[in-house]
Amino acid sequence: MYIVQVASECAPVIKSGGLGDVVFGLSRELENQGHAVDVILPKYDCMRYDHISGLHQAYDDLSVPWGNGSIRCTVLGGKVHGLNCFFIEPHSNENFFNRGKYYGDNDDNLRFAFFSRAVLEYMCMHNKRPEIIHCHDWQTGLLPVMLFEQYKYRGMDGQRVCYTIHNFKHQGGGSVGILGATQLNNEGYYLSPDRLKDSSIPNHINFMKAGIVYSNAVNTVSPHHAWEARFSNEGYGLGHTLAVHQDKFKGILNGLDYEVWNPEVDEHISMLFGPDDFELKDLNKKGLRERLWLEEKDRPIIAYIGRLDDQKGVGLVLHALEYALRRSAQFVLLGSATSDHLKNLFWQTKNRLNDHPDVHLELSFNEELSHLIYAGADMMVVPSNYEPCGLTQMISLKYGTVPIVRGVGGLVNTVFDYDNDENHLPEERNGFVFHQTDPGALESAMHRSLELWYTDRQAFNKLAIQGMRCDYSWRKPVEQYIEVYETIKA
Ligand code: ADP
Ligand code: GLC
Repeated sequence: MYIVQVASECAPVIKSGGLGDVVFGLSRELENQGHAVDVILPKYDCMRYDHISGLHQAYDDLSVPWGNGSIRCTVLGGKVHGLNCFFIEPHSNENFFNRGKYYGDNDDNLRFAFFSRAVLEYMCMHNKRPEIIHCHDWQTGLLPVMLFEQYKYRGMDGQRVCYTIHNFKHQGGGSVGILGATQLNNEGYYLSPDRLKDSSIPNHINFMKAGIVYSNAVNTVSPHHAWEARFSNEGYGLGHTLAVHQDKFKGILNGLDYEVWNPEVDEHISMLFGPDDFELKDLNKKGLRERLWLEEKDRPIIAYIGRLDDQKGVGLVLHALEYALRRSAQFVLLGSATSDHLKNLFWQTKNRLNDHPDVHLELSFNEELSHLIYAGADMMVVPSNYEPCGLTQMISLKYGTVPIVRGVGGLVNTVFDYDNDENHLPEERNGFVFHQTDPGALESAMHRSLELWYTDRQAFNKLAIQGMRCDYSWRKPVEQYIEVYETIKA
């Protein structure tokens, strides 16, 4: 099959979180299983060019219809670790993607509506006719609308769209006037409740709803989150739309690219190790302490890696830090804050604990350091408020770092409590799970994990090794995606 992936991120060139990992890992595994894949992305000024080889002009002077006229673009092609990627670059007077960041401006909706339109125009003009166009998240929600309403008549009627929702909270959209720019001109038609109309803001359209309504298949990134989105508030207002389209909606768990996330081959870490020589993990712990100026002693290191955002349960993250210190453990945090408020909060905490021998807070995005932490820490806390899938717990498992997670979303599908999980045998369990959002619930899970570490190291290590042996590779999820692609193709 020939598949085009369309997204706003693809690791390691463009990554702000799990979306980037997923687009890269999914595409690579599709290729490993014998399919042809192209990935189409915006060309941002701040992306990591050092991971692209053979960058060349794939299409010069693409004229993308927009507003009352058109915007000219160049499409650059190149390989990202063997994967065919294409980058849409509007000509210099259009500053859509040269912002020094990927997201976070008032005109994000317009920027990515334009990107979606440009992708279709490029495929149309360059005679790219994939069987499947796989779109990701709100940024590409309008693409299936444009495909169906504007490009079907221009020779693109054989393409089917699979739409994957990574985060229901960020839906994209805005005043119906945006449609004018995209040349989807019949505002009244699109503003109907069964099409693009936002259910809570008058005269607004909703990009994610558009993606759900117009795509041939829709999924989110874990089975449990698919259930939450349909039946609890986790669909952030889209529950009704999902109910209407329930026949084409499901959950497919994300995978991990084990060429990138694997302590047996990881080029970033100082000592390679696997489940059979787990004791070598200790050398990575020692290395991590040296790198972060933590005191060397016989204590566990508890870590947090992730965006510092309300989604992630930041209050509980800070509580985990305090509790770790109370229990004489060490704590390492690597996080990038998404708001000024949280930036201030974490900088204050960092300054307060500046010279503490048992704490390190790294408030930036640092891919290399993340590998060192996964390899060197003993435990990873993931106290999310909601978590469509979550990759940090799966990466931790692979690196023998025992996850302590809140039982929501994809965390439910991947982490099985050491003491209490009816559905899994003791030898299948791999971490600690708590359910409520209060600090006491987190503490009791951390307590159980710390007690095991302090009083029965052998049992703790056995649990960590069981986690390393879990298979969260892309093999099975990609088989499920292929099944979806085959169904909608037929
Ligand atoms: P989300 O996509 O909601 O941010 P995931 O758990 O799915 O959460 O994926 C997060 C990905 O981003 C993981 O690969 C994690 O290691 C990485 N990551 C998050 N924050 C940072 C950071 N500050 N520095 C480096 N990597 C990070
Ligand atoms: C989102 C979700 C996260 C998921 C990731 C990749 O950003 O917050 O849970 O793992 O996308 O699908």
